[in-house]
Amino acid sequence: MDILPELLAYGQDLVSKAGYAERVTFCAGEVSRLPFVDRSFDWAWSADCIGYPLGDLAPLLAELQRVVKPGGSLLLLAWSSQQLLPGHPLLEARLNATCSAYIPYLAGVNPDLHFLRAAHSFREAGLEGVTVQTFVGDVQAPLNSEQRTALVSLFNMLWGQPQPGVSSEDWQAYQHLCTPGSANLSWTS
Ligand SMILES: C[S@@+](CC[C@H](N)C(=O)[O-])C[C@H]1O[C@@H](n2cnc3c(N)ncnc32)[C@H](O)[C@@H]1O
Repeated sequence: MDILPELLAYGQDLVSKAGYAERVTFCAGEVSRLPFVDRSFDWAWSADCIGYPLGDLAPLLAELQRVVKPGGSLLLLAWSSQQLLPGHPLLEARLNATCSAYIPYLAGVNPDLHFLRAAHSFREAGLEGVTVQTFVGDVQAPLNSEQRTALVSLFNMLWGQPQPGVSSEDWQAYQHLCTPGSANLSWTS
C-alpha cells in the first residue's frame, strides 16, 4: 500500500517482472487509515513509510495493531543514517546539519520520536517481544550502474544544491571531493 499512484505503478511493474503478480496485491491508501477491517492479517510490515519522516508513532502503531490478528507481528523498516564521505566525518556532519532534506523534519522534533528510539513506542503500545535489528549495506568502487544511480540520487537529494547555512569553505571542500575531475587526494578537512 502507498499513497502515491506512481509508487504503486512502479511496484506493480517490479512484482510483475519478478513473476509474483498473482501473489501480491497493491492498493492506494493512507497509512493512518488502513482500508482493512480489524484483524485482517497475520502480520503487517512497513518499509520506509512509517517513521519516515519522523512523527508520533503511537497512532500509526495502533492502526497497524487494529488490522493484525492477536498474536501476529508488526515489522517496521526505516532508513536511519548513512556515511557518504568516509574520512571526512566533520564535513559530512556539517553538510547534514544544514541539509534542507532533513531540517524540515528534524528541527524542533522531540528526540524521543527519532526512529532509532522507536522501540519504546512499541512497548508503550502493549506489544510483546519487541526486538530491534540494524542492517548495514556497504558499497565500494568500482560501482555497478544501479549502485551508481542510487548513490548519485542520494547525493543529489541531500546536497545537490548549496544549502542555506553551509559555509563557503565547506561547500568548496565538498565540491572538491565530489565533483568529477576535481579529486585531490592530498586535501584534508
Ligand atoms: C522512502 S519511500 C519508500 C517506498 C517503498 N515502501 C520502498 O520501500 O521502496 C516512502 C513512501 O511512503 C509513502 N507515504 C508517505 N506518507 C504516506 C502515508 N501517509 N500513507 C501511505 N504512504 C505514504 C510515499 O508515497 C513513499 O512512496
